[in-house]
Amino acid sequence: MKLKQKINQYISDALANAAINVEQVNVVEAGKPEFGDYQFNGIMPLAKKLRRNPREIAAEVAEQIDTGGVIRKAEVAGPGFINLWLDDIWLGEETGRILSDPRIGVEKKPDPVKVVIDYSGPNMAKQMHVGHLRSTIIGDTLSNLLTFLGDEVIRQNHIGDWGTQFGMLIAYLEEIGEDTGSENLKDLEQFYKDAKGRFDEDAAFADKAREYVVKIQSGDPHCLVLWKRFIDISLGHCEEIYEKLNVSLAREDVRAESFYNEKLPKVVEALDKKGKLQMSEGAKCVFLEDEEIPVIIQKGDGGYLYATTDLAALWFRSEVLGAKRISYVVDARQAGHFKQVFRVARESGLVGEDVLLEHIAFGTMMDKGGRPFKTREGGTVKLADLLDEAVVRAKEAIKAKDAYDPAALENLARIVGIGAVKYADLSINRESNYIFDWEKMLSLEGNTSLYQQYAYARIMSIFRKYDGEIRGRIVIGNEIEHRLSLLLLRFDDLLERAAKDAAPHQITSYLYDVTTLFMRFYEQNPILKEEVGEETRQSRLALSALTANVIRQGLSILGIGVVERL
Ligand code: ARG
Repeated sequence: MKLKQKINQYISDALANAAINVEQVNVVEAGKPEFGDYQFNGIMPLAKKLRRNPREIAAEVAEQIDTGGVIRKAEVAGPGFINLWLDDIWLGEETGRILSDPRIGVEKKPDPVKVVIDYSGPNMAKQMHVGHLRSTIIGDTLSNLLTFLGDEVIRQNHIGDWGTQFGMLIAYLEEIGEDTGSENLKDLEQFYKDAKGRFDEDAAFADKAREYVVKIQSGDPHCLVLWKRFIDISLGHCEEIYEKLNVSLAREDVRAESFYNEKLPKVVEALDKKGKLQMSEGAKCVFLEDEEIPVIIQKGDGGYLYATTDLAALWFRSEVLGAKRISYVVDARQAGHFKQVFRVARESGLVGEDVLLEHIAFGTMMDKGGRPFKTREGGTVKLADLLDEAVVRAKEAIKAKDAYDPAALENLARIVGIGAVKYADLSINRESNYIFDWEKMLSLEGNTSLYQQYAYARIMSIFRKYDGEIRGRIVIGNEIEHRLSLLLLRFDDLLERAAKDAAPHQITSYLYDVTTLFMRFYEQNPILKEEVGEETRQSRLALSALTANVIRQGLSILGIGVVERL
């Protein structure tokens, strides 16, 4: 049973014993050590209802709390709170138990579901930009998190591989030849500009491009071959980024927009059958209540829209893949789009009532001056360059850089540098805009990955110095050990909450708390010094080992590695 759930149970039992009826008990983690470990603040609303003095009720309930095992002390505080302290012996035993558990006490969900997570979604004709970077980093973390908790995660990379611009791009690819093409395609932005240049200057080329659009759409085999090659090359560039990022998106996770082409007429048909479609200015539309602008499903010329494809994808994900939760990790600026698409899908029965649909929105990436992230010349920042720079800067940030040979340093810098980029992105509330700041993300102090990685390496160095056996018995001897144990035991509750809220920053703040507390513990509690008794040493070693496990597992969910030495 989860820790918090267990404490709730103690309170429920006490309330029942005091003959007080409360539907749901929800204790909170106490904000300050002097308030104990948990706090129950559900008495006040109750007292109002019963027209009784809250402190009096609190005293009656506190009296009934079983303080013989898990809870050591229950105390009435303030206007009618009950503060709870956990028992040190019990805490030590529990902490010892999760030390020997490879899952660190994190229970698998009793009710796992199939979850589709739609993330990354770059557009093939364009450079992958910082918005896709955020989607990739956040989406991958959520996939790792839900997988760890036992859900069956289906990653979906909804790449933009369809649209009229492909006529022009393919005409250009054919013109310059495939070999030159795959070289030139390295810089998609430039390739696009060149193709557009040809389109604007040469009428014959423009005609050809338009012909290609028709040909691709009607499934002309030669054009399709060229189109596929174009997609293949540009997807290859995205995969280089995924690889650099240590993100687990693979080819089989790609289900491109074009995959849904043949399903689009069926969407129209299904909406029509439900009586949802109305003609407006020649287009087939769905009008939603309270919304002035309708959702266009099919244009007058027969063309479909971004929303139509998303409706088909929703149907596919719920009906064919069987997902019960469908999560879109996409820029907050698409909130309106998803709101509409979800409503149309629900109201028309394309997805069932029992399927949770969510837009996991994130804010814009800004530079230090608060402007949208661009190169000095105002162009789009190439992600590959950005990630390479992270590695170069990480090399500088590593304190003992001279102690490594070049290959080892390179490897270390990759883990640290990429980790810094990811951690910085994940550590802010995802809905806020995010300020990209090299100095801050590679700082040794504060809530950064480097701080975590140093703490981890420090613990590893303790174990290099200590070469005895670790028995894993934890005996809590002081306040800070108590708090550290409790915090480590809360890992299970924390991950559950972060998954429910789709909030990676809850994990980073938790890790920051763990590391900070560990550092204080480490300063105040000698481990290897001779005068420390063997039982205490063992206990402190065990707490250190558990801290390392939590850091490693926590960072691994964020897709960030650890190193043994730093
Ligand atoms: N390609 C889209 C873009 O760059 C993102 C795709 C998001 N996923 C979706 N199912 N619409 O804006």
